[in-house]
Amino acid sequence: MEPTSRIIVALDFDNRRAADEVVDRLGEDGRFYKVGLELLTAAGPGLIEDLVAKGKEVFLDLKLFKIPNSVAGAVRAAGALGVSMVTVHAMGGTGIMAAAVAAARDFPRLRILALTVVTSMTSSDLADIGVTGSTATSAATSTSTTTEEQVLRLARLAEGAGCHGVIASPQEAGALRGVLGSNALIVTPGVAFPGGSAGEHARSGTPGAAVAAGASHVVVGRSVTRAVDPVAAFRLVRADLEP
Ligand code: C5P
Repeated sequence: MEPTSRIIVALDFDNRRAADEVVDRLGEDGRFYKVGLELLTAAGPGLIEDLVAKGKEVFLDLKLFKIPNSVAGAVRAAGALGVSMVTVHAMGGTGIMAAAVAAARDFPRLRILALTVVTSMTSSDLADIGVTGSTATSAATSTSTTTEEQVLRLARLAEGAGCHGVIASPQEAGALRGVLGSNALIVTPGVAFPGGSAGEHARSGTPGAAVAAGASHVVVGRSVTRAVDPVAAFRLVRADLEP
């Protein structure tokens, strides 16, 4: 896959004008956009249809986490808009993931991605919500191990439910590729520019390191969309992905 196709730009805006401006400025460079609940709610589904009509791929980050019937309905609605990726919470279990996968079968380009552990969470956050895995006693001291264990556990569950891939942090990309094999999509938000700030991502890494470790796609948000020159920032990410 060429580097440009691996970069998903997160349109985290509260209005359509701001999103359109980024898409216009990136032009041919920007091929894949992530739309989350904020922009979907503010701008409506027409924005997604327009992106698809322009030939862009859309990752609709719905993070579905409810009963199988409503998850299936939301996936069908997303498929009808022409999106390429929809997210479902792996922590919601096999039932909702399998329902999402079944609903996606009517839409050949639609891929269901399971969200494992968001990049802002550490093992102590997992312990706070009662997720301590098999190393409960070491949760306070062995942060990355426990988080990675949970990511891998959920990834296996997602694979068993038929999901096409997972969302995880750059730090788990290598272990995930080993577990999921070569075909799975591994999408990593939480990428930081080389030498740049990780923002609130607790488990961050550069785009190049994420892809070298096994990520199929990286999600970049503010470091591109809020840059003074988004095109230059996008090209920095792309350069980082070039072999
Ligand atoms: O930080 P950035 O603006 O690059 O975020 C891009 C995407 O990464 C967001 O749309 C969100 O889905 C995800 N993210 C995350 N954890 C955070 C911050 C952002 O998973 N702490």
